[in-house]
Amino acid sequence: MGYQEVYESWESDPEGFWMQQADAIDWDKKPSKALFEVGENLYEWFADGQTNTCWNAVDRHVEAGRGGQVAIIHDSPITGTLHKITYSELRNRVARLAGALRAKGVEKGDRVIIYMPMVPEALEAMLACSRLGAIHSVVFGGFAANELAVRIDDAKPKAIIAASCGLEPGRVVHYKPLLDGAIDLATHKPDFCVIFQREQEVAHLEEGRDYDWHGFQYGVEPADCVPVEGNHPAYILYTSGTTGAPKGVIRHTGGHLVALNWTMKNIYNVDPGDVFWAASDVGWVVGHSYICYAPLIHGNTTIVFEGKPVGTPDAGTFWRVISEHKVRTFFTAPTAFRAVKRDDPKGEFVGKYDISCLNAIYLAGERADPDTIEWAQQVTGKPIYDHWWQTETGWTIAGMPAGIEALPVKIGSPSVPMPGYDVQILDEAGHPMKPGELGAIAVKLPLPPGTLPTLWNAEDRFRKSYLSHFPGYYETGDAGMIDEDGYLYIMARTDDVINVAGHRLSTGGMEEVLASHPDVAECAVIGVTDQLKGQLPMGFVCLTTGVNRPHDEIVKECVKLVRDKIGPVAAFKLCAVVDRLPKTRSGKILRATMVKIADSEEFKMPATIDDPAILDEIKTALQGMGYAKG
Ligand code: COA
Ligand code: AMP
Repeated sequence: MGYQEVYESWESDPEGFWMQQADAIDWDKKPSKALFEVGENLYEWFADGQTNTCWNAVDRHVEAGRGGQVAIIHDSPITGTLHKITYSELRNRVARLAGALRAKGVEKGDRVIIYMPMVPEALEAMLACSRLGAIHSVVFGGFAANELAVRIDDAKPKAIIAASCGLEPGRVVHYKPLLDGAIDLATHKPDFCVIFQREQEVAHLEEGRDYDWHGFQYGVEPADCVPVEGNHPAYILYTSGTTGAPKGVIRHTGGHLVALNWTMKNIYNVDPGDVFWAASDVGWVVGHSYICYAPLIHGNTTIVFEGKPVGTPDAGTFWRVISEHKVRTFFTAPTAFRAVKRDDPKGEFVGKYDISCLNAIYLAGERADPDTIEWAQQVTGKPIYDHWWQTETGWTIAGMPAGIEALPVKIGSPSVPMPGYDVQILDEAGHPMKPGELGAIAVKLPLPPGTLPTLWNAEDRFRKSYLSHFPGYYETGDAGMIDEDGYLYIMARTDDVINVAGHRLSTGGMEEVLASHPDVAECAVIGVTDQLKGQLPMGFVCLTTGVNRPHDEIVKECVKLVRDKIGPVAAFKLCAVVDRLPKTRSGKILRATMVKIADSEEFKMPATIDDPAILDEIKTALQGMGYAKG
């Protein structure tokens, strides 16, 4: 069957389609049906089945005789180390860790926060939680204590598993003080913490609360897999919305297993045993789905890469890892390729390695600009597939179904909708638009298995954020169009979310931080175009009357405040003091106009602007930061 036939087979019988895919998963109790409507426009998949994620990702491969296959390769150019863990070893390590967690009281349904860098122990912690039916919430290491505290208060974890440190080029990230700071800030306190001590930094452990990763596992009884319902949350992953309060995206167990397993062959075109590499971080959805779960569920070898595309040690790192570990499918973000391209524009490093093992490269996380795709095609000679998805969906909404049929690539488009997704372009009033017309991208409900059923402790917010604007649809927050051939084009966000180096950030959240500066009366944060990172946040602050301090001092404090409150990952370095912000007569800040001026794009003076002269002041401030030069 080609793509069209597969898509139509899903369309004609969605539940039959997914029930058939569910056969590839081991169930303790098979689900009686696929889809359950549990409230108005609320759906769950495989809700009455019983299964266990860890069993499907680890134990079943050992039982099937593949225990000797490498499950995880930890390749760390930052520490200069390489480790391989087989499926048998992984089972033993995870069962022991789960046993130790259980001995300290962690049970099905308890939340566990994981705050770890790119080490295999991060995956083991995730899997140990799944083994017990505990719900993990991984927090990205680039977030500051405050962001961690917000997640602790929302998820209310029984335990936190962390590493002593992370390693960024030229800098040790001291996780333990960040963790201690977060626990101090949070109202909820975990019962205990487990600290994985890295040799680069041994952290102080607090008596009675903190346990050493190894010591705490000593002599415990390994835990077996605990069967959970298909609609039991496997994890919560917080992602940016329009405000500083992150949204806790829930992933249910059954749909997650079925959908991810389906993607490995049909989208990424790998067979069990093949090496699959997603160069992301476990703190992001790409890391959850494609460093940890999908490759393991499908019986692949996954690579945990602790390094950067450039500088660890050079722009040849990607090609070295691909060739050394015989990677068949590689997944990264366009920004990573832009970094490599900047250092090695002619792709000379590629020639130093044999990458004939590689079938194709997949890009996601942000818009893949045609220059980057063409460069990657040229220097690698491999197919480059853009694909579009979100934390909310957990897997591809639109992409290249390479394992079904390699369709023609259209540069600038992430290709076609996957089975499960009825993607439509809607106008403001919710009417479908014609091919080629730009509008809001929405997906007809129900969403497929593996996507979010709701938000953690926030059903109202779930409805408001995603379901209320276009009744009967899931609102993606992206705008774009579909062409005559059914290819999708993603053009922009329709909300205040920006994308910095493939990281999703909230300008609203940054505004909340700036507004907390005692001298700031009012502020706006916008996303401006950046050659490397796609977008960069830029802040404008108006000072409280009577504040007479030097502006550069205040700007420095604002930059530090965002780094301290949100984290270095926000990459907030551009900020200016201005007298006033451009607004409409009703008081709405004209952020979109500011973005256009910054990016030197043509713009129409908004008819409702209160005082057009303010835009000149903004332009001068932008020029001072190296923008609005055209
Ligand atoms: N822990 C602590 N700090 C982190 C971190 C982590 N896990 N990851 C990033 N940071 C810090 C960096 O050290 C940097 O700090 P600095 O301001 O002190 O330099 C800051 O956060 C910004 O980091 P980053 O966005 O990684 O920018 P960079 O300039 O260091 O590197 C790229 C640029 C393009 C190489 C890098 O962004 C990259 O590899 N991007 C790929 C993104 C990706 O995989 N996204 C996942 C979606 S698929
Ligand atoms: P995240 O939830 O962090 O994965 O971010 C999801 C958002 O990133 C999407 O809503 C898009 O705005 C953007 N995005 C992800 N992949 C792509 C892509 N292939 N093309 C364009 N935008 C993308």
